[in-house]
Amino acid sequence: MCGIVAYIGHREAYPVILKGLKRLEYRGYDSSGVALLNEGLKVYKRKGKVAELEESLIGKDVHSASGIGHTRWATHGEPSDRNAHPHISANGRLAMIHNGIIENYNQLKHELINKGYKFTSDTDTEVLLKFIEDIQVNNKVGLEEAVRIALKRVVGAYVIVLIDQDNPDTLIAARKGSPLVIGIGKGEHFLASDASPIIEYTKEVVYVNDYELAIIKPEELVLKNLGNEKITPFIQKLDLELAKIEKGGFDHFMLKEIFEQPQTIFDCLRGRMDAREGYIRMAGVDKNIEQLKNAGRFIIIACGTSWHAALIAEYIIEELCRIPVEVEYASEFRYRNPIVNKGDVIFAVSQSGETADTLVAIERAKENGAFVFGIVNVVGSSIARISHAGAYTHAGPEIGVASTKAFTAQLAILTMIALKIAKEKGTIDQKRFMHLLSELHEIPDKVKTLLESNDSIKKLATKYKDANNALYLGRGYNFPVALEGALKLKEISYIHAEGYPAAEMKHGPIALVDENLPVVIVATKDSYHEKIVSNIQEIKARKGKVIAVITSGDKVITGLADDVIEVPEADELVAPMLSTIPLQLLAYHVGVAKGSDVDKPRNLAKSVTVE
Ligand code: M6R
Repeated sequence: MCGIVAYIGHREAYPVILKGLKRLEYRGYDSSGVALLNEGLKVYKRKGKVAELEESLIGKDVHSASGIGHTRWATHGEPSDRNAHPHISANGRLAMIHNGIIENYNQLKHELINKGYKFTSDTDTEVLLKFIEDIQVNNKVGLEEAVRIALKRVVGAYVIVLIDQDNPDTLIAARKGSPLVIGIGKGEHFLASDASPIIEYTKEVVYVNDYELAIIKPEELVLKNLGNEKITPFIQKLDLELAKIEKGGFDHFMLKEIFEQPQTIFDCLRGRMDAREGYIRMAGVDKNIEQLKNAGRFIIIACGTSWHAALIAEYIIEELCRIPVEVEYASEFRYRNPIVNKGDVIFAVSQSGETADTLVAIERAKENGAFVFGIVNVVGSSIARISHAGAYTHAGPEIGVASTKAFTAQLAILTMIALKIAKEKGTIDQKRFMHLLSELHEIPDKVKTLLESNDSIKKLATKYKDANNALYLGRGYNFPVALEGALKLKEISYIHAEGYPAAEMKHGPIALVDENLPVVIVATKDSYHEKIVSNIQEIKARKGKVIAVITSGDKVITGLADDVIEVPEADELVAPMLSTIPLQLLAYHVGVAKGSDVDKPRNLAKSVTVE
């Protein structure tokens, strides 16, 4: 986790860094800090969000042409002023920011303590910095060489950026396992965890790879590997607009992102399928179609909301392609010695493309000879780069910590992939293929229609906001939707919520039902409809409060439920892209009504780059 920003060039560094940190707060926001060079090193840091740091620096001398900044999500050491980054070397000459975890920090710390070093924080970062300092002093080498030597002993993941008061025109950065982008301007360079702090200044960027070290001066960028060999930087042009990462008139990023879904789903489908001509074209799928259609099994690895998208994909792929699918939490897969056979294909699903567990799970799968297909939102992210092939979801930057538009884009893309494989394999007939293409094509307009229910969902949120618990139920394709709805509510409102397959209710959760328990039932018209109507009756018989997401005009459930939210009619296979959205809105409005910081809920971060 954590967001890093750095600048060196002809501008004032502090405003660039501050704005960048605000854009990166989705990566962590329990403390923040900056180190600026101006006649010596000035380090300002404090517990709390970036706005609190900004406030505390009003009137302070922040003049500088180079600096580094950090917004933290605590791993080693509680959120506090002293654990905030940047950290300073014992001689006060160096400052460093770090994103990642140094796994062997304890051993290094003991070695340093034995040499007389004192520590002022509980962080692994301070250990690494003092380890670098020790090498620099004892081996009488420059900072670049000291960093290189130190990193060869480091176990773990890192992006580090160092600033040296004796060398004010140079920043040193290195990466392994955490993201680092360098923006290239005229006589200036920008460094950040992702491109969002950079794009307003330059569209030319270099994604630093693992085990690479960057020596950055205003006019020059040198990339080297840990063996001190120069690497030619691969400069890419970003296709990202600043407007896309601003709030655009909405109160929160989460609401903006929910409302973007007609466009993001459209963008995901655009150019890849044609409902009239009847084709799906996706470069990554087309090139690897033999591998995909002949797969003995698909294993989908993901975490959180992406894992819920994977569960829906399991239902869709098995239905359409008749290929067995297993869905695994990346964190379990990576440690449990799973059986991966030749011919198995791994789909890795991730919004950020930086989730540590998913990254390592991919490595494990690759070691076992599996073919890995990445489904990722963030262009150029680590998962995109280590997968053998893949497809971007094109949902645009997702800033709200609770994933919304990335989820529906994942569903859209996974459905297209399943349809393409089924078509090539011959497990779907032409009529059904054409029908599902047209159903997919209509989704963006249907989402637009259902977003008109926003105000009535807000009223429902006011009615149920004081509940202490909630149960979410669904069947078939809508079971993972129930899981996702419960996760959204937990994240944003801190109300305990559980998702269950509706039929499982009788095996335990029904004991919770009483007049105080809101039960959200995803009950759109599908092959399970009659069954779920019975489940609603069972809840009503026990005085539970039923809020049902139904297909427009469903009089049966309207007559039974306490409250209903209508969504447009759709084939059950694509219906989750609709039925999820009212649950996102419900969670959002409950969160706002309860006064939560919905874009940055407590204890969470957008990119979980630690295991
Ligand atoms: O970036 P990823 O899709 O790999 O992230 C996975 C989870 O961390 C993420 O979905 C998380 O559960 C969100 N907070 C859900 O809203």
